[in-house]
Amino acid sequence: MRSRAGKPVIVLDGPAGAGKSTVSREVARRLGLPFLDTGAIYRAITLVMLRDGIPPRDVSRLTERLRGFSVSFPGGRVTVCGEDVTDAIRTQEIDSQVSGYSAVPELRRSILDIQRQGASEGLVAEGRDMGTVVFPDADLKIFLTASPEARARRRYNERLERGQTPDYEEILDQVNRRDAIDSNRDVAPLKPAWDAICFDTTGMSFDDVVSGILGYAAGLL
Ligand code: DC
Repeated sequence: MRSRAGKPVIVLDGPAGAGKSTVSREVARRLGLPFLDTGAIYRAITLVMLRDGIPPRDVSRLTERLRGFSVSFPGGRVTVCGEDVTDAIRTQEIDSQVSGYSAVPELRRSILDIQRQGASEGLVAEGRDMGTVVFPDADLKIFLTASPEARARRRYNERLERGQTPDYEEILDQVNRRDAIDSNRDVAPLKPAWDAICFDTTGMSFDDVVSGILGYAAGLL
């Protein structure tokens, strides 16, 4: 899938905390491509719905509310209708609710276009269903995994760095619960595309993961 500008579309999928965000941000930076964090879109929607008191099962209000929804990524921040929600979407409350909203098929369908918008300039996109549903013709598909404990530890450290007071056991529990919901939902479940390259990052350094991916990407440039 070459974009019209002739630049590649590279996608990274995998479970929570496998290092997708930091790795794909760096891969995008090194290749000079835009970066799309699709989890941030699901998180922003979750925040909006919780504020408006719309539960995932209320599909008609949910789809109605999504009509006026817009999300932007100015300078690496996340904004919804102009409000900066970068920190508000990375809390334990959002972590515990987001899988419920992201399992709603109507919601997933309604944000397909938002996710595909930037691809004409080439893109590095990360999420759960980039290689299977959103960009099935991507030029390079990577699936990152790591043990649940390694992933919970990463999330724990991220929260500490943000000045929050995380609870490791609670995060581990949530990582396991979220994986179970994300992997078993009917629509766009978390799974590697048949043509994805899988990396288990448990014992790998950040630099090794990035250079491994850049090695595969080199063939595309
Ligand atoms: O990557 P993340 O932890 O920020 O993602 C938050 C949630 O959004 C995750 O539990 C599953 C959902 N998600 C999804 O269903 N599909 C995507 N492409 C990206 C995220």
